[in-house]
Amino acid sequence: HLYPVLLCGGSGTRLWPLSRKSFPKQFVKLGEGETLFQAAARRLSGPDVCPPVIVTNADFRFIVTEQLGEASIAPGAVLIEPSARNTAPAILAAVQYLAARDPKALLLVMPSDQVVPDSAAFTAAVRAGLPAAEAGRIVTFGIRPTRPETGYGWLELAHAPESEALAPVPLRRFVEKPDADRASAMLADGHYLWNAGIFLFSVDTALKAFAAHAPDMLAPVRQAVEEAASDLDFLRLAPEPWQRAQDISIDYAIMERSDNLDVVPFAGDWSDLGDWASVMREGTADGANVVAHGPVTAIDCADSLLRSEAEGLELVGIGLTNMLVVAMPDAVLVADRSRSQEVKQAVTALKARG
Ligand code: GDD
Ligand code: MG
Repeated sequence: HLYPVLLCGGSGTRLWPLSRKSFPKQFVKLGEGETLFQAAARRLSGPDVCPPVIVTNADFRFIVTEQLGEASIAPGAVLIEPSARNTAPAILAAVQYLAARDPKALLLVMPSDQVVPDSAAFTAAVRAGLPAAEAGRIVTFGIRPTRPETGYGWLELAHAPESEALAPVPLRRFVEKPDADRASAMLADGHYLWNAGIFLFSVDTALKAFAAHAPDMLAPVRQAVEEAASDLDFLRLAPEPWQRAQDISIDYAIMERSDNLDVVPFAGDWSDLGDWASVMREGTADGANVVAHGPVTAIDCADSLLRSEAEGLELVGIGLTNMLVVAMPDAVLVADRSRSQEVKQAVTALKARG
């Protein structure tokens, strides 16, 4: 009864100009081989793992089916959101879809924009959380923090992990996207892990959590699921009730308000390719820590990302330090490496300009 629920409706604005509304990062081949979405769909394995439930928006529906087909994965369902309302309504839609079909279902909610190279270690961590999830806990997965990251959620442990590395530990608090001072304090404190953005819970636990912390979301999302229209391989959620669901992430709507959270520490490699600084961190660097991609010439550059995305578009950097440069045929990003989270605001400003 274990259902991977893959969220892939985000537009990845922090990776502008590569990631656009029409083709966000989870569907882009950032390295060689498969896309992040395909890797996520394959990540969890085992005899009890049911076909994945995908939640995405109308713009991405054909990319989703094409990439699943390419990876030979048959989905259990592809739920289509009439508009993006962030992750809380998306997850609730999957919960209510499964509640009607398999009331004993356990959901493993996963983002589709992450790099987790060791699938076996990941599957072991998920399995370690299953008893807690069956007992009514919301299980999160925690990564040892290495910098004062403001783009993640932070998990405060109620006590240090026992010797048994994979056992769940109760949480005292969940802090979503802190400011820089708070992130530094949590890093120094040592009792915090990063939230991997992956959640494990039963249908029953999820419905209780929404009833307690986001009760107004229940009725519109239930109606959107009940009145959903089948269309080819897709289930289109009903637009009118869907619009009435609050636009909010699961982290703010549920996790920050819950007191039944556990964390399974995950020691394997993990990265959220959320912004250019993290793409750079994951990339192959030369001796001066320059990550280059495409027709790039870097002279006396250090600690920088230089990326040309257009055929034959020559990109030359001279004497750059701590820079992010991404050139597309119709747009160029030049940013200080420490400011990569602000690309989101830039995209908002561009949209406002039309
Ligand atoms: N279906 C659907 N609909 N999916 C969405 C939507 C939506 O409206 N909005 C976002 N998603 C998907 C994204 O595509 C991504 O796969 C996942 O949900 C998480 O959304 P992000 O927007 O990438 O969240 P985040 O990275 O800012 O923060 C979350 O992940 C961090 C770790 O990667 C939080 O859970 C943080 O606490 C966490 O640290
Ligand atoms: Mg993310």
